[in-house]
Amino acid sequence: MSARIHKKRQSRLLDGRLVSDFLLTRVSHEVKKLHKKKIFPKLVIILVGKNPASLSYIRQKEKATQRTHIQYEHLNLRETIATKKLIAIIEKLNRDKTVHGILVQLPLPAHIEAPLVLRAIEPAKDVDGFGAYNLGKMFLSMDFENLAPCTPRGIIRLLEYYKISPVGKRVTIIGRSNIVGKPLAVMLINRDATVTVCHSKTKNLASHTRTADILVAAVGRPKMVKADMVKKGAIVIDVGTTKVNNRPSRSEAKQIVHLNSLVGDVDFENVKRKASWITPVPGGVGPMTVACLMENVVRAARRMNM
Ligand code: GUN
Repeated sequence: MSARIHKKRQSRLLDGRLVSDFLLTRVSHEVKKLHKKKIFPKLVIILVGKNPASLSYIRQKEKATQRTHIQYEHLNLRETIATKKLIAIIEKLNRDKTVHGILVQLPLPAHIEAPLVLRAIEPAKDVDGFGAYNLGKMFLSMDFENLAPCTPRGIIRLLEYYKISPVGKRVTIIGRSNIVGKPLAVMLINRDATVTVCHSKTKNLASHTRTADILVAAVGRPKMVKADMVKKGAIVIDVGTTKVNNRPSRSEAKQIVHLNSLVGDVDFENVKRKASWITPVPGGVGPMTVACLMENVVRAARRMNM
């Protein structure tokens, strides 16, 4: 028998930490240029209540503002605030010329009418890009994308960095949310991909995922994408981040390992042997979302002072 060495196939990582670092450095240079013109980009984040996951996301965003010298204010409002009062606070921020970006952290408590709240944000300051005006512009064409939603923009930036062209590629997106799946589908169609969007009512999900050149999972179900659902050589992008509290085994309990870890929608260890490129969780799409938010704040500040 010949002594052939069988190397295990491994995909390459789409490293969101590396690319977000590159983007944040660029943003920081742009902010310094704006400072010289006496423009001081400022982001205000509104959190209603004390949702621990939201607090953790907000900490990442705050760190990024420090890194990029973007001014930052955090308004933590009481859980019981009425929709009207919240909208009045947003309207005041809309009028404040020192504020360039307003972000209302989601989810909002059930008693608040979230669509009314998001609609109250002035489109020019809607740095999340969740409002109808900015979504509508994105819908028209790539040239009209201005304040685009940060997670889809982050995925596009990641592909651009690694020179992965979506032109003519079959893309399957699992998840049809207004903040990831739907806008990402539009942005990829604008870039000449052939896009399928799957959701909870999709029949035979694997038949759609197995034909995808680029597979995006954005549902929040840990490890739902298994290796047999992925085409060999596909590019796999994992948007899921579910916090799991692993119960430690006896030996782990002695060592304190991975008790509180983030798990993606993709069964990473097995899928990485089949994919050509894959995003890790954490360190994939998450940091890209934050970096693209900072880009949007600078973009908003620049436009408001044109
Ligand atoms: N909650 C989870 N992700 C996001 C996000 O990107 N923006 C806002 N506003 N809330 C979120």
